[in-house]
Amino acid sequence: MNIRNAKPDDLMNMQHCNLLCLPENYQMKYYFYHGLSWPQLSYVAEDEGGKIVGYVLAKMEEDPEDSVPHGHITSLAVKRSYRRLGLAKKLMDQASRAMVECFDAKYVSLHVRKSNRAALHLYTETLKFEISEVEPKYYADGEDAYAMRRDLSEFKAVPKDKETCAYAVEQAKKAEISTVMSNLEKVTVS
Ligand SMILES: CC(C)(COP(=O)(O)OP(=O)(O)OC[C@H]1O[C@@H](n2cnc3c(N)ncnc32)[C@H](O)[C@@H]1OP(=O)(O)O)[C@@H](O)C(=O)NCCC(=O)NCCS
Repeated sequence: MNIRNAKPDDLMNMQHCNLLCLPENYQMKYYFYHGLSWPQLSYVAEDEGGKIVGYVLAKMEEDPEDSVPHGHITSLAVKRSYRRLGLAKKLMDQASRAMVECFDAKYVSLHVRKSNRAALHLYTETLKFEISEVEPKYYADGEDAYAMRRDLSEFKAVPKDKETCAYAVEQAKKAEISTVMSNLEKVTVS
């Protein structure tokens, strides 16, 4: 099983997977809108033969009300026989990391049906989303949605040179100690 960035070629298979798994479906142009506007943010899970078995369709919120840059998960699904393998968690983490690295997102939001136990468990227990509000009758059939958010500070990138610097300092400290130790040994032995 492989997780990779979604390409324009994948959008039709993502739509197919969406139709199999969820009652919320979108026109092809909505997939293209995501893929063309934020090509870094959507991911697919593929099996050994390259068949799409799961996807996350994600975007950045345009003109956020709170002026805080944040991402939004438009849709997530994994085909039935590929569930409970950790694919949804990986897809969500990849999309979230890309939101931070590419757009400096501070949090990611989504909506989920109140009755969707599997997704609610994934979001609250595994991914540590929190409910921000209840949106009554959000879905076309009248079901309420939980609006949820996940803080993305854990994905904050450490700038590469800072990382390298910290490593070098650490190595230098260790080297200094061992040099001192071996010099001391030499002194004691002689
Ligand atoms: C929700 C969904 C995306 C989860 O996909 P998945 O790949 O099976 O999820 P993961 O394997 O990454 O699961 C990670 C964790 O989520 C929770 N979880 C996932 N499915 C669950 C279920 N059926 N019941 C309870 N908890 C569940 C578990 O804590 C799981 O960890 P564990 O397997 O170690 O116990 C999948 O069930 C699905 O496609 N459902 C239909 C579409 C849908 O509801 N999408 C979300 C719309 S908001």
